[in-house]
Amino acid sequence: MKLKNRIVMSAFDSHHAAKDGSMTPRLMSFLAERARGGAGLVTTGFAYIDQKASKYSHGQLGAYDDSLIVGLNLLSEAIQTEGARASLQIAHCGRQKTISGPVAAPSSVSWRSWTTGEDLTPTELTIDEIEEIIDAYGQAARRGRQARFDAIELHAGHGYLITNFLSPRTNKRRDGYGGDLKNRMRFLLETVRRIKEATGERFPLICKITVDEYFENGITIKESTEVAKKLEDIGVGAIVASAGCHEGPYEVPPMFLPAGVNVHLAHELKKVVTIPVAAIGAINDPELAERIIAEGKADLVAMARPLIADPYLPVKVERGQIDDIRKCIRCNQTCCERSTANLEIRCAINPAAGRELDYTFKPAATKKRVVVVGGGPAGMEAARTAALRGHEVVLYEKNALGGQLLLAAASPGKQEINNLTKFLSGQVRKLADVRVGLRATSKLVEEDHPDAVVVATGARLVLPKIRGIENANVTSFEKALLSQVRIGKRALVIGGGEIGLETTYSLLQEPRELTIVTRMPKLAPEMEPTRKDFVMRSILDHHVSVLAGMDVQEMSESEAVAVDRAGNRRSISLDTVVIARGWTADAELFEELKDKFDEIYRVGDCIEPREIGDAIHEASWVANRI
Ligand SMILES: Cc1cc2nc3c(=O)[nH]c(=O)nc-3n(C[C@H](O)[C@H](O)[C@H](O)COP(=O)(O)OP(=O)(O)OC[C@H]3O[C@@H](n4cnc5c(N)ncnc54)[C@H](O)[C@@H]3O)c2cc1C
Ligand SMILES: Cc1cc2nc3c(=O)[nH]c(=O)nc-3n(C[C@H](O)[C@H](O)[C@H](O)COP(=O)(O)O)c2cc1C
Ligand code: SF4
Repeated sequence: MKLKNRIVMSAFDSHHAAKDGSMTPRLMSFLAERARGGAGLVTTGFAYIDQKASKYSHGQLGAYDDSLIVGLNLLSEAIQTEGARASLQIAHCGRQKTISGPVAAPSSVSWRSWTTGEDLTPTELTIDEIEEIIDAYGQAARRGRQARFDAIELHAGHGYLITNFLSPRTNKRRDGYGGDLKNRMRFLLETVRRIKEATGERFPLICKITVDEYFENGITIKESTEVAKKLEDIGVGAIVASAGCHEGPYEVPPMFLPAGVNVHLAHELKKVVTIPVAAIGAINDPELAERIIAEGKADLVAMARPLIADPYLPVKVERGQIDDIRKCIRCNQTCCERSTANLEIRCAINPAAGRELDYTFKPAATKKRVVVVGGGPAGMEAARTAALRGHEVVLYEKNALGGQLLLAAASPGKQEINNLTKFLSGQVRKLADVRVGLRATSKLVEEDHPDAVVVATGARLVLPKIRGIENANVTSFEKALLSQVRIGKRALVIGGGEIGLETTYSLLQEPRELTIVTRMPKLAPEMEPTRKDFVMRSILDHHVSVLAGMDVQEMSESEAVAVDRAGNRRSISLDTVVIARGWTADAELFEELKDKFDEIYRVGDCIEPREIGDAIHEASWVANRI
């Protein structure tokens, strides 16, 4: 199989299929858009192979019955019509499952469900059941070929059934399918052979594996190189060198892991096989992708989230429009969070992702003069979209373009957020009249004579009423994050929400004794879980004192007193206090303007402080209506 370029759209379960796993127009348009964007090969999300225990999620694609071939063919055609090759990924979810129903795996090693938080204990497969599953893989692959896909991708990674067999962590069997590597890889090799029988020797088969599980007693690079050699021997045509499973961050690397964190795994495999090897994981920068290929670390570069955030990345690279690429910021907030909740996927920074049918571009019927106030993500997205639709746009920003993105990116490990600021500010500077350093007042806005106004003034800190709040040693989390003040060695952070936690983590980059006081019973309940785990580990390692369910009553230059509901008091010794609580919607300008214009909107945190995705999605929605 020949590809037009080396970019592969990696498999992505987008939850668009129907209840029975059959095709929907939404799934077709989701993948057709990725093909239109220029990827050489587009892989479907993993399709389940039987009606027993293989299904992982609601909205998952199915390949378990011949009646599904008609729909699968519509999908392969939709991808191929846009100029890409189409590959059907097939899988059995094994011990990781997000829906109710039977759970089957080589051994009864439980998994804590992402969706319910409960421990799922799989039933140990019998030899007859193993044989049935191998057959189901073969049949599913045969359906893929009949549906005119160009290739089948066997998902043998990420903690699903085949990984469960390969990994000593989850395979405790004492029969021919467990024990040494030869036995643990038996299931995979038998499955590959059955697929080959079902599809024909020459039909392209790709295998995606977890090269390193990054767990003690898990799959290791050393063993994976042996697996890769065997796969090549028995006719697998290419390998996708992935990592991890659902129990760690390496499968879908978040922003606090380095870009290209798993590339070395592809490189290791390339040393032992001659078939093409694809690198995958956090390759969201085309320059990095080029380097991986140029340095011979991989033959192909696979991307999932980068093509969710911007399906047109390949085309833009080809045209040299690098600054126009909306790079995935690896927030894992909207795509992963929604997927875990069994909802159709969305992307925080690309409002059209997953909603390709709803987001058709419509030029404005009447050109209007639009004033946008606020150059955070909401204001910039509103300005960008309104201008693209043909409106004349003026954007006011009193400080610097980016708004809270600049604070968010200042927290260690969150620098990828700067990519979003760079993209949006670059776009608005091209498309709109951008007035930075000007605070918009209601008078200024009125003098602009706009036909429509979008207020995106974000949030601001309202200092809590605590005795001692005016002391010289009290500062805001904003100043602390942006290193605009000196923070002492014994700091008290007031506020245990996401902002408080991020601020504390940032202060831990230098040796300090820290205390967090929060009125909530738990720290940051809403925070994205992988980031929270990462930050919490550091907080525990550094012995940060956490006073939950308490409030600070008074503070001096050297001490604060915290009190709980029962009146118990704790005294905290300190030299600096950082306020990380009281982050409130800044709706003042909207209130002043709302009765002065017929067409006025409010978007983003100036409604209520939330997240980047809310800001961008609301802004896009509004700007598409003006
Ligand atoms: C420390 C921190 C970490 C965060 N981390 C994350 C994260 O990891 N993921 C996530 O999704 N979200 C995160 N957020 C939240 C996220 O950044 C916000 O939800 C988002 O920026 C809101 O966008 P916005 O455009 O509505 O408002 P803002 O980003 O607040 O932008 C508003 C802009 O309006 C300008 N402005 C206000 N009044 C005027 C005026 N009168 N004239 C001209 N300009 C004006 C302000 O200067 C500001 O630039 C974080 C926030 C903070 C503070
Ligand atoms: C919501 C979501 C769904 C995914 N679904 C699949 C899938 O069906 N099959 C698969 O092999 N990988 C799946 N992945 C993993 C990606 O293919 C890819 O290996 C991973 O996201 C790392 O690559 P990236 O940094 O380019 O996103 C999924 C990832 C996400 C975030
Ligand atoms: S939601 Fe975040 S991680 Fe997911 S694709 Fe969009 S930018 Fe990337």
